[in-house]
Amino acid sequence: MPIVTSTEMFRKAYEGGYAVGAFNVNNMEIIQGITEAAAEVRSPLILQVSAGARKYAKHVYLMKLIEAAVEDTDLPICVHLDHGDSFEICKSCIDGGFTSVMIDGSKHPFEENIELTRRVVEYAHDKGVVVEGELGRLAGIEDAVHVSEADSSYTRPEEVEEFVSRTGVDSLAIAIGTSHGAFKFKPGQKPQLRFDILEEVERRLPGFPIVLHGASSVIPKYVDTINCNGGQLADAIGIPEDMLRQAARMAVCKINIDSDLRLAMTAGVREYMAHHPADFDPRKYLTPGRDNIRELVKAKIVNVLGSDGKA
Ligand code: G3H
Ligand code: 13P
Ligand code: ZN
Repeated sequence: MPIVTSTEMFRKAYEGGYAVGAFNVNNMEIIQGITEAAAEVRSPLILQVSAGARKYAKHVYLMKLIEAAVEDTDLPICVHLDHGDSFEICKSCIDGGFTSVMIDGSKHPFEENIELTRRVVEYAHDKGVVVEGELGRLAGIEDAVHVSEADSSYTRPEEVEEFVSRTGVDSLAIAIGTSHGAFKFKPGQKPQLRFDILEEVERRLPGFPIVLHGASSVIPKYVDTINCNGGQLADAIGIPEDMLRQAARMAVCKINIDSDLRLAMTAGVREYMAHHPADFDPRKYLTPGRDNIRELVKAKIVNVLGSDGKA
């Protein structure tokens, strides 16, 4: 099975009322943990790579590791650029074998976002690559970009038809109250998502795949392990899993998860090192990190995304 685009995945997910997980990858252990979990429950997968991940691991290393995972698992896997912020980075990923790119023009005014996105779509479609655009701005931290709560904004449903028809994007990320990172709501604040916006977007774009960024649930058991000495993670609050399940039953076909992977991996390493402080073999302490990722991703696929058995 070669690396695939998300077109078929999204068509089936929309019709089947489930979503495909888009997991951020940065190294071999993360890729193995995710793909081994998906192979066990036969789920399609999107592995996504940020600019920061490319800088850390180098494009070619991640690409080769993903190719190895495809060979190892025989799963349909889509390789996606997460939050591309320029035509140049999208072009570089398309030329380097990715089957999907996100051009995140959400920080630009509407017309500029359309112009930039349309340019990427023209280049990508010519090479058989699909494109995700974004309307509305999520709060939180993505690599060097920190969007404050005051600068974040919900997607305006009245803009989505024009954006999609003028750009030709294949999927659309919208802002309905999720945010990047581990601190999605203030302490004491009740987690809420604007399902009314999602419903209106769905009504205006029937059959069109919607993407949810910032969708980590911030699993308490991993937070507790990392936070054992009374760290700042005590205030971390994620998106409740039942809300993600609801979104997956609606038009949301792609759900982005990174922070939960980071927490799971770090908790595994932290726990191992706490019990074996003198160990210095990376294979020993990375194994529980990879095991945690496998367990986390399997639970996401089966309990939240509903994509098990769909590969
Ligand atoms: O939405 C952003 C992802 O969590 C990637 O984070 O840019 O630090 O790799 P990163
Ligand atoms: P989280 O920070 O909630 O995992 O979101 C990740 C994401 O949206 C990547 O694009
Ligand atoms: Zn994101």
